[in-house]
Amino acid sequence: MNKYKKKEIIKNKISIAPMVDRTDRHFRNFVRMINKDVLLYTEMITAQAIINGDLDYILGFEKIENPIVLQIAATSPEEAYKAVKISEKYDYDEINLNVGCPSDRVSGNMMGACLMAYPEKVAKILEAMNSATSKPVSIKHRIGIDGTKILPDEISKKVFDTYEDMKNFVEIVKKVGIKKFIIHARIAVLAGLDTKQNREIPPLRYDEVYKIKKEIPDLYVEINGGIKTVEEIDKHLEHVDSVMIGRQIYENPMILTQFGKYYGKNIKITREEIIEKMIKYVEKIELNGIRPHLFLMHTHGLFFGQKGSKFWKRAINNPKADSFMLKNLLKELKNERKI
Ligand SMILES: Cc1cc2nc3c(=O)[nH]c(=O)nc-3n(C[C@H](O)[C@H](O)[C@H](O)COP(=O)(O)O)c2cc1C
Repeated sequence: MNKYKKKEIIKNKISIAPMVDRTDRHFRNFVRMINKDVLLYTEMITAQAIINGDLDYILGFEKIENPIVLQIAATSPEEAYKAVKISEKYDYDEINLNVGCPSDRVSGNMMGACLMAYPEKVAKILEAMNSATSKPVSIKHRIGIDGTKILPDEISKKVFDTYEDMKNFVEIVKKVGIKKFIIHARIAVLAGLDTKQNREIPPLRYDEVYKIKKEIPDLYVEINGGIKTVEEIDKHLEHVDSVMIGRQIYENPMILTQFGKYYGKNIKITREEIIEKMIKYVEKIELNGIRPHLFLMHTHGLFFGQKGSKFWKRAINNPKADSFMLKNLLKELKNERKI
């Protein structure tokens, strides 16, 4: 019998992509003020940070953030095992391995996207993670990598760029019981493009993500990369199981209200009601000695495309902004009918 069978992966139509410096607990709480159902991710946390770190600070979160996935980056099965074992005492719904980050820092340590050149190693890391947790384990990766000028010479396959390469990778990983694959539909170019360029320059190849779902239908496939509208989401959902969205949520969080339809809900919250929730949250963190700016900086997109947008950004970007300021801001916005 398959020893992994008991672990049921989270099947959620929409997830909010893991983003370093963005999807921290404050941003996740902000998302929950608008939408209670989408699947949330932590930022990528390295296994070493978990092994050596201040655990409640790194891994702690509030119940309201569930369903939530912990994303780790790891360079060996041993450290991945340790980190996942440690995280067991926190109630994450799924544990995810990052095999998509092209950052030099991450690749230099043989983590993230460069691991796509070593599918057997990835399988071993995931197997170790799986054996360390009672929770399901998933992987987030690219459709391929270009590792020329950076991967060590002994690696024969520095360029891992065709659909067949990806399929081979997926099949090796699948053998250790991994069922859920979140696929960013562009390759990562490890030398020559920086992290930001690697999210924009390599072309999106959605068809290859659709194809892998078609050819291996028992995989749970989530598509990611450049998805911006509900119309686009609906189109992708004709081909794959779910959709992951990153930058667009940060830029325009009100789009979260449109996702109610994936959960049989009609989300009607207004910006005014969201600001009222924000005031309560800010008052709470102030009591705990946390600087409100750490939360408010994640909310600059609340007025995306609206008259009050500049006004809002200027006010909440003030490092000294607090609950008092937020209350006044709400009054002003109401008076000027910007809400
Ligand atoms: C600021 C920022 C930080 C990111 N950090 C991570 C990360 O920690 N882990 C990860 O797997 N991907 C990370 N990504 C990539 C996103 O998860 C996602 O794959 C990428 O942005 C493409 O999706 P999008 O076009 O919907 O934004 C990051 C992206 C951004 C913009």
